[in-house]
Amino acid sequence: MTDLSTTYLGLELKNPLVASASPLSKKIENAKKLEDAGVSAIVMYSLFEEQIIHESLELDHYLTRGTNSFAEAMTYLPDIGTYNMGPDRYLDHLSALKKAVSIPVIGSLNGVSRGGWVHYARLIQDAGADAVELNMYYLSADPDLGGQELEDNYVDLVAEVKARIDIPLAVKLSPFVTALPNFARRLVTAGADGLALFNRFYQPDFDLEELEVVRTLELSASRDLLLPLRWISILYGKVDADFALTSGIHTAQDVLKAMMAGAKVAMTASMVLHDGYESITSVLDDLKTWMDEHEYESIKQMQGSMSQQSVAEPAAFERSNYIKILSEFRDLP
Ligand SMILES: Cc1cc2nc3c(=O)[nH]c(=O)nc-3n(C[C@H](O)[C@H](O)[C@H](O)COP(=O)(O)O)c2cc1C
Repeated sequence: MTDLSTTYLGLELKNPLVASASPLSKKIENAKKLEDAGVSAIVMYSLFEEQIIHESLELDHYLTRGTNSFAEAMTYLPDIGTYNMGPDRYLDHLSALKKAVSIPVIGSLNGVSRGGWVHYARLIQDAGADAVELNMYYLSADPDLGGQELEDNYVDLVAEVKARIDIPLAVKLSPFVTALPNFARRLVTAGADGLALFNRFYQPDFDLEELEVVRTLELSASRDLLLPLRWISILYGKVDADFALTSGIHTAQDVLKAMMAGAKVAMTASMVLHDGYESITSVLDDLKTWMDEHEYESIKQMQGSMSQQSVAEPAAFERSNYIKILSEFRDLP
């Protein structure tokens, strides 16, 4: 019997395919479809810091009517529209979702600054989540803010969230860090039990006729896997965390690569949004078939097998591959 089981954040999972945060968890019936199709856990869509602050500002406004700072403060907070339901309903939804499925449910808190909003990590725990994923999606655009200061802020935030909860904590990271292994290790020391690599940064385009910035959300493809694949294979064995690979998981081969790099789970959003729930079942079937054909008995047996753990100098290894690739590229005729 092929054993697809894995563990992530101390959770025993029946297979390594997890639904990452996306609108697929907004409806209980869709979360059940994810479960029926075979995912082993679900990460809820995020509850945003901005939303929590929005609600507390509103409350504050009603308690202290007449202050004119209210309108100004509100202009900095984006309208989350229909994506999210507000903090209280998020917690109710999480709790209902948890009761409706039998697989683990991970709550997602999305924010970057320190403050009272982190209390929601505790409320997510109280609502029944099996773990919390903290997504620190932030694009630094301030020339006065140095990398060290920024990283210190993130590390402090992780420690603050960790102090509020007893359940495991995963941190979803951006790839844009100068010294990722060092930063990753600091996050783990601050309390992260798992690291989800990577956040996909949505890149705006320009509309030249309207002279407007266009927001685009392109779903991923398998080639987006390569960035997290490289980094998980470098971090595996050096940073004591469970790794989740998120970005570009579309086939059984993608899941296998994620496992061999050293991930405990492979997370997916775009694949299901693009190809439907059946894609989950076929990836899991293909995974089993591939393992049988290649005589693998378990997922655990392959985790980290292609990592750079045994490479003495990963940076020199990467650099020598880079030079080889450039020198082997064919010339134009
Ligand atoms: C429509 C959409 C909504 C998403 N919402 C969230 C979210 O609320 N919180 C979050 O951490 N990630 C969110 N993500 C990111 C995904 O969880 C995932 O990390 C990313 O899409 C890369 O994985 P993929 O290649 O499987 O799509 C969203 C992605 C999509 C496409």
